[in-house]
Parts: sequence; C-alpha cells; structure tokens
Amino acid sequence: MDAEEIITSIKSIYDRFSVMPNLQEHMFRVAAVGSLICDNWTGPEINSNLIISVLLVHDLGNIVKFRLDTPESERMIKDFGGEGTDWTKVQEDTKKRYGANDHAATRNMVIGLGVSKRFLQLLDGTAKLYHSVDEVLRTDDLELKLCCYPDERVGPYGVISAKQRLDDLINRYKDNKEKLETYSKIAGTVPEFEQQLFRHIRIRPEQINDETVMPYMQKLKH
Ligand SMILES: [Fe+2]
Repeated sequence: MDAEEIITSIKSIYDRFSVMPNLQEHMFRVAAVGSLICDNWTGPEINSNLIISVLLVHDLGNIVKFRLDTPESERMIKDFGGEGTDWTKVQEDTKKRYGANDHAATRNMVIGLGVSKRFLQLLDGTAKLYHSVDEVLRTDDLELKLCCYPDERVGPYGVISAKQRLDDLINRYKDNKEKLETYSKIAGTVPEFEQQLFRHIRIRPEQINDETVMPYMQKLKH
C-alpha cells in the first residue's frame, strides 16, 4: 500500500485492526496537525502524503499498552462511542497476534499493509521522540522531524500547545520516575524543536489550534 492508499482507506484499516474510537480520533487529529503544517511548509521539498499517512497509523497498536479498567479510560471509551465492544478481548487478541509492546505491535500491523522501507523508517522515527529525543533534534531529516512534532500538539480532547501537552504528561506520570525523566527531557527541547521546524513554516505554533486543524481533520475522515 502506498501513502495515498493508506490515506483514502484509513477507515477500513482502523476497522481491520479494531482500533478504539478514541485512538482513531487521536491519530486523525495528529495527522490533521501534520497536514496543516505540510500545507504551510516553505522549506525543502517534503513528501506530505507520506508524512500524513505515517501519522494516521503511528499508534495503530497502542491498545496493547492501555489500562482499560481505569475511570479515565472508561470515560474516554464512552466519550468517543466505543461502548458495546469488549476491548479487553480485543486487547488480548491484538497482543497475541502482533506483540505486547506498543510500537512493535504498530510496526507489525503496518508491515502487514505492505509499506515502503522509508515509511517504516519514519514510523520508527515517531517512537524515537520518546526514546532518543536528541537524535530527533540532531537529524537533518526534516520529514522525520515532521512525523514527530504533531503528536506533541495533541491532547485527549483537542489541539494544545507542546508545553501544555508535556506539562500534562509530567503531571500524569509524576510517580513514574522513568516516564517523568523522559517527558521532562522532551519538555526541555520544545523551544529548540519548534525553532528548527517553524523557520520553514509560514504560520506560528499558536496558529495550530482546534479551529485551524478542524478542516484538515474533516477532510481526512472522508
Ligand atoms: Fe500519538
């Protein structure tokens, strides 16, 4: 499958892998942020469809790591219309079939779609933000940077600033030393990361918000 096919058949891809509605919404929103950025890109040539398609599947296998029994998780399932499905069963089946690690599960699903090597390289890049943020900052690969940034702009219910997103994560994981360190480190890189990208983007970070992202999201959903 090439990038364009993934974009046009994304709904059937989500169905095929029984992706939770809240997770679908997350990936649509992240891809819409990426799409808005690509539309306002003034830098060296990039493959917009490739970036958007990677973003549409970047968390495809994330159900394997979800805690499904928390009140927060139950509320999200309800808010996004995911009631009536046994998600615990879906989680078990997904783990068995694609692995218990979230990125590995996503990767295995995506490999099954028959994507290019470059697609997989960018998909792996989206996970790098959380494991080796320095590498993302140092690389000259602007497409990879563009695959990492949009996820930093999306909260559970909408587009937020990167600072807000990371403050939320730091607050949520304040008792988890490892995650706290990771998110604090990423938070420290936000100004430099935004500077690297926004010198090639004709809008400012604050012009990426629910209102400006909405049309891109609607387009991707059709
Ligand atoms: Fe994500």
